[in-house]
Amino acid sequence: MGDQLNSPLLPALVDRFGRSITYLRVSVTDRCDFRCVYCMSEHMSFLPRRELLTLEELDRICTAFVARGVRKLRITGGEPLVRKNIMWLFEALARHLQSGQLDELTLTTNGSQLKRFAKELKAASVERINVSLDTLQPDRFRAITRWGDIGTVMEGLDAADAAGLKVKINAVALKGTNEDEIGDLITFAHGRGYDLTLIETMPLGEIDGARHDQYLPLSIVRARLLDRWTLEDIPHQTGGPARYVRVRETGGRLGFITPMTHNFCESCNRVRLTCTGTLYMCLGQEDAVDLREPLRAGSSDAALHAAIDEAMLLKPKGHDFVIDRRAGRPAVARHMSVTGG
Ligand code: 5AD
Ligand code: SF4
Repeated sequence: MGDQLNSPLLPALVDRFGRSITYLRVSVTDRCDFRCVYCMSEHMSFLPRRELLTLEELDRICTAFVARGVRKLRITGGEPLVRKNIMWLFEALARHLQSGQLDELTLTTNGSQLKRFAKELKAASVERINVSLDTLQPDRFRAITRWGDIGTVMEGLDAADAAGLKVKINAVALKGTNEDEIGDLITFAHGRGYDLTLIETMPLGEIDGARHDQYLPLSIVRARLLDRWTLEDIPHQTGGPARYVRVRETGGRLGFITPMTHNFCESCNRVRLTCTGTLYMCLGQEDAVDLREPLRAGSSDAALHAAIDEAMLLKPKGHDFVIDRRAGRPAVARHMSVTGG
């Protein structure tokens, strides 16, 4: 049961627009030990634990996707490393790397638990990780994450380096908050041998402030960077939405994820599973299919595969995010921490 990897009969996943789906992101918990101002409100209500898929069920769904040609799995949250016993899932999924059916098993983390988990992740064949870090200044870090401590994250980065994990830093560009620090983030990340990717805030879920006050278009950031740095376009691709340049002065790579100013949906290759087993076809749309019920319907994966096929027909052409003063409500009600980053 579960493993149907030897079956040659299962067709690869292609949506109505001819896009091949080869990348699954899996949110293993909606909980987090931070409360980033652009991600969550300070007082969030989280799902009751009994609603969650078990780790075995998550493994079974991931395995079904691998059987359908998914080559890359990203474990996200919330903060994935706060999920109890999460290393079991990494260790289980690593078998698909060993069999050659999966190219990459990776995670997105806020770094708070990395000191504890870096070595085990590497041992489970995780090679690269994304660490979210929007500022290098302790007081700002506290203001952005509300609950986080930058010292802990720095220790986590040290542990990742020591374990031999390749790190990419993700920083959300925030108007009036870290916009004067982008250069410092480049120097820091590239100085440590990390890629850095800048992200535009997306209107996902209710937060306490107004999105419009946080939103900083990366077209502006990029133009400003040109005063100080030389940015050379490069073809580097990681299978995600970032477009990369090389910063000549540092030799490092800088990525731009621009859901707001540049729509990249036509090359979208991914779908997202929530921790309750809902498969969302787009971060910015409601189109979704429940996989939990077909999963639990029986020990064969037939119903699960049928639901996955049905989902492919629902993948929308793209998102239509808008952030302006008039756009009072988020594009979708659910937070990034539900759908997975
Ligand atoms: N817009 C853009 N990025 C977001 N993240 C969380 N919420 C949002 C949002 N509304 C980022 C986190 C992390 C990644 C998973 O997504 O900072 O880097
Ligand atoms: Fe947690 Fe990441 Fe959301 Fe921050 S952005 S609250 S670290 S899930």
